[in-house]
Amino acid sequence: MALLIKNGEVVTATERRKADILCEGETITRIGPNLSAPPGSEIVDAAGKYVFPGFIDPHVHIHLPFMGTLAKDNYTTASRAALVGGTTTLIEMICPSRADDPWQAYEFWKANAAGKSACDYTFHMGVTRFDDATADVLHRVVDDGTASFKIFLAYKGAFGIDDAELYQTLELAKRLGVIVTAHCENAEVVARLQKQLLAEGKTGPEWHEPSRPTTVEAEGVHHLATFAALTGAHTYVVHTSCDDALREAAAAQARGVKMWVETVAPYLVLDRSYAERPDFEGAKYVMSPPLRVLPNQTAVWNALASGLISTVATDHAPFDFAGQKEMGRSDFTKIPNGIPSVEDRVHLLYTHGVAKKRIDLHRFVDAASTQAAQIFGLYPRKGTVAVGSDADLVVFDPAYRGKISAKTQEMNVDYSAFEGWPIEGRSELVTVRGRVQVRDGKFAGTTDHGQILRRTPTHG
Ligand code: URP
Ligand code: ZN
Ligand code: ZN
Repeated sequence: MALLIKNGEVVTATERRKADILCEGETITRIGPNLSAPPGSEIVDAAGKYVFPGFIDPHVHIHLPFMGTLAKDNYTTASRAALVGGTTTLIEMICPSRADDPWQAYEFWKANAAGKSACDYTFHMGVTRFDDATADVLHRVVDDGTASFKIFLAYKGAFGIDDAELYQTLELAKRLGVIVTAHCENAEVVARLQKQLLAEGKTGPEWHEPSRPTTVEAEGVHHLATFAALTGAHTYVVHTSCDDALREAAAAQARGVKMWVETVAPYLVLDRSYAERPDFEGAKYVMSPPLRVLPNQTAVWNALASGLISTVATDHAPFDFAGQKEMGRSDFTKIPNGIPSVEDRVHLLYTHGVAKKRIDLHRFVDAASTQAAQIFGLYPRKGTVAVGSDADLVVFDPAYRGKISAKTQEMNVDYSAFEGWPIEGRSELVTVRGRVQVRDGKFAGTTDHGQILRRTPTHG
């Protein structure tokens, strides 16, 4: 059945105009004024609403065995949550442990999603060790349509790689033409600072940030930039939290290093004081890199407005407060790191960015959709509203007023980091390849509609 979205204001990263959109099958077939619907079409009146391209979250964790536990969402819960928040494509990090066989891990992560996702998805392949077999496996992974890698300079002894492995990964990525996404924190320094703080009896969640100061993150970005310059690889710094790290990224770009920068929704709206909340409440706000003191939030917004930051992701990593965050009650280094937000990203960015005039509508669409599509080889299939693109659309009501609450969320986790926060605007109707998956802000679709997206290398 065709779908005609009438009378909306279509907003992309570069354009804004009143137009109707006709979707036939899985694609957008016409855009223009006064379009007529083929017989039997569904007609949606979007008068007074924006029509955005489906949003893309380029950094989520769904299957995540981490810090002695497992993140709470599965593909069904995470993709439903993504969709009610306006996100129609997820890029999940495949995170094998160093001991895992990487090809088996790749197949496991793919099988974990197959037939269970309500939205489209693809992966970044985690490289958590580099040995004689790695190059062959990564060739196969890229041939299979997963054209980006993920590395951790943090998490010593878990996902972290050493410098020899970093060099080899970037060298191979350069040869294959794939981009390498990287968690940048100096793992050795973090380990030392954690030990030192614990020895001083500093065990609460408020000590998480001092164990990973901004300079440690900045050093990670500088380190990656040095290796990127030497190998010529294209790099993407995930979850950038602070001014020090942003300065290193800007300096690297100025030297000609190919480096893109991501921030995540929590850094735009939360600060270190949340992790300092009493009665262990701060554990809800423990993630890495940590929430920073407030001036960094301004620096992150400014970098987003200027375009130094390309994308806003979530780093969605849901761990229950009861039972999971609890594991670190007497030792902050054992609190599972992560803040759930795949459902909230777009609405927080609109409320705190567009409505507060920190960014305009085009930068909003660009940072939450178009840039991710362009950087990760999905454009123009995804990330824009154009004839021939997938009919992934968000009819967004800017007049909606509501509140975030764990009681009403789709995410399978027992708290919201944004409990009771007011929201301006909402993703009212959301389509994935022409099928309506969200109506009136509620999931109304099928949980097996999502497809894996095969990508070819675009960073040669
Ligand atoms: O705290 C975080 N970021 N948890 C998820 C794992 C990661 O570092 O991306
Ligand atoms: Zn990370
Ligand atoms: Zn992550």
